[in-house]
This record gives sequence, structure tokens and C-alpha cells, in this order.
Amino acid sequence: MFSSRNRAIGKAHSKLILIGEHAVVYGHPAIALPFPTLTVTCAIEEADSGIHLDSKLYSGPIDQIPKRLKGLAICIHKTIQEIGKHHNGLLLKIESMIPIGRGLGSSAAIAVAIVRSLFQYFNCELSDEKLRELVNIAEIYAHGNPSGIDMESVCCDEPIWFERGKGIASVAIRSSFYLVVADTGRAGDTRSAVGSIKHKLDKSPIQTKQSIDRIGQYTLDARNALIQGNLVQLGLLLNLAQTELEKLGVSDHGINHLVNIARNAGALGAKLTGGGRGGCIIALAENCVQAREISEQLNQNGAKRTWSFKVEETQQFQSITS
Ligand code: PMV
Repeated sequence: MFSSRNRAIGKAHSKLILIGEHAVVYGHPAIALPFPTLTVTCAIEEADSGIHLDSKLYSGPIDQIPKRLKGLAICIHKTIQEIGKHHNGLLLKIESMIPIGRGLGSSAAIAVAIVRSLFQYFNCELSDEKLRELVNIAEIYAHGNPSGIDMESVCCDEPIWFERGKGIASVAIRSSFYLVVADTGRAGDTRSAVGSIKHKLDKSPIQTKQSIDRIGQYTLDARNALIQGNLVQLGLLLNLAQTELEKLGVSDHGINHLVNIARNAGALGAKLTGGGRGGCIIALAENCVQAREISEQLNQNGAKRTWSFKVEETQQFQSITS
């Protein structure tokens, strides 16, 4: 990160949920990974007066920001209030490679980059705790009832085990693997997907709870598969989680199509990632040749775009925060 009195840059990367989305809202664990290929930066410069945003989403004074982005304006005001230093005016320039509404954590990553850049600009220390507190303001506005997994995973540079209200721990990965991420080209709406499961839970509690509990169990099993380096088992668990996400109604025709293409192209497993109903899928590959073949098939069969990257092995078991 670079800073001087008049300019500062804050960065964040995107994230992928490997397994556990939606069930994580109900207290089950989830596993998330940093997705370093896609990043966002916020560069701050002095302005004559007021606070202005310059981004693909909106450019202009933050007091006139559209309603759907209001969480960012509140987060910026709270952060400046927290820092407590005088300024004449600020221009926040946001450049994001993360497509919006694809389950890749774009809203959390933008908020993280903003908060980091503001602390940098005013030469103030930013604790992990304060970063999370300020980013959460924007996340609550964007998602309604977020579990907090997006915020934690875009703040962290390694795979995390996340349980709502219990903090995060590291995840041991015995064998490296490849993930192919494919974009359906359609934005999902996490807030409404989460709301629809709540509605289902009220209407058909037994079946819905069964699906949620199964995803929780598959996530525990996936952690063991990662520890053992059993990629075939991990792939099977991703497929099983996808079946439950379909039953919960958060998958859709376009997602199912890409999941099938990936599986037929040799993926060990494939599922949606994030809120669903649009957004992205992930496919598990053993090596880079397999990942390339899966990417090609997805690109030729309806994916808007794909990215593939290697998840490196780790051997860490200790808790990062509590
Ligand atoms: O923001 P998304 O689309 O990556 O979804 C986050 C994961 C959910 O479990 C669907 C919601 C949450 O708050 O945990």
C-alpha cells in the first residue's frame, strides 16, 4: 500500500465460497478461499470540498448516491468520523475487476478497499477489528442479514473456516488443487435468495432444515477431505452440496447447465458459489490440464467468462481470530 498526505491506495481481493453457503446463515460452518485474481483498489485524492466517488457504479457526491449503494456512503461517513481528522474534500476513485452480484464478494471487497484507503490517507493505524466493524456497516445495508463470511474472506489471504459469531480458523489443505470459476453472466440477488430460504423454512420446515443440516455435514466432511488430500471425496461433497442447494431453490437452470458441463468435462465436482440464482459456479480439477479442459468446455457452452487458479497446500491448524 502507498500513502502520502494527499494520496492513498487501499486494496482488497475477491473471495469464493468452497462449500457451506446459505447453511452458514443458520449457524453451520462454511469454507471460503481468497480469489486473488480479481481485485479492487480505492485511490483517494484531495478535492476542493465534499466527498465524491468516482466508480463504474456511480460517480458524484456521496450525499447523492443511489439508494442501493447507500451502505457505502454510510460506511465512508462512519470511517471518517472514526478517524476524527479534518479534511477539505476527498475524491475516492474505485477500480474493481470483480463483477457485481456474482457471489465473488464485490460489495465487501469495495468496502474493505475504501476503509483501508481512508485510514492510509489520514496516516492512522487500522486494526482488524475496526476494519470488520466498519465494513459490516456496508454489508448489512447490502445484504440485510449477512453471516459475515464475505467480509472475513475478503479480509483474509488464506482459506478460512467460518462459523457465524464464532470467528474464523485456518483450513489445512494437504494436496493442492485447481478451481475453475465460471460466470453465468447474470447477477444474482443474495438478499432475496437468503430471504427465499427463510420463507421456505417457515413453509416446509422439516425438508428445508434437512437440506441446511446436510450442507453443514458436507462442509465438515469437506474439511476432512482437505486435511486428507482426498480430492475425489471433496468433489463428491461439492456435488452433494449442489443437490441440496438445488432443493433449497437457490440454483437455477443456467447454473445447473454450467455445473453439468463442468462435470462432463472431467471436474471432480461442481456447484454454485455464493448466493446463487445467477452468479458463478466453481468446478474442482486435479491439475492444470484438467482445469484448462473444463474452462474450454464452459467457455464453449454458455459461460460468459471463466477464470482458473491453483489453491496451494497449507498445513496450518491454529485459530486466526476468535
Ligand atoms: O454474497 P454472496 O452471494 O457471496 O453470498 C454469501 C453467502 C450466503 O451464505 C449466501 C449469505 C451469507 O450472508 O452468508
